[in-house]
Amino acid sequence: QSTTEIDLSKILPGQAIKTSFRKQPLFVRNLTPKEISEADAVDISTLRDPQTLEERTKAGKKNWLITLGVCTHLGCVPLGAGEGENKGPFGGYFCPCHGSAYDTAARIRKGPAPTNLHVPDYAFNSDTVVTVG
Ligand code: FES
Repeated sequence: QSTTEIDLSKILPGQAIKTSFRKQPLFVRNLTPKEISEADAVDISTLRDPQTLEERTKAGKKNWLITLGVCTHLGCVPLGAGEGENKGPFGGYFCPCHGSAYDTAARIRKGPAPTNLHVPDYAFNSDTVVTVG
């Protein structure tokens, strides 16, 4: 199985990049303190796929949100990773195909997608390098 190395050093707070992992789109996002607070403020019992931001990130690295860029409805690539893209009404990602809106932890909040954006297996090699897979 192939792995992918990602250099985080150029991704500023508030930015998300789109790269790829095993031929699928992969989103890597550096959450701002405000985006982290927004994610933490949600009562997870109200969520379709209940998970905290902690459960979706690594200990002490809560600002690094790494997910597949594949909508869990029918597999379109959501918007929100890249300059000026539509992050949708919950500030995370927005799938234009049928209107699924994800929040700043990439959790599904509105629309037909059944689950949150998938978090792949990954590990930090250092503060600025991650290996996915
Ligand atoms: Fe994303 Fe349908 S594929 S909302």
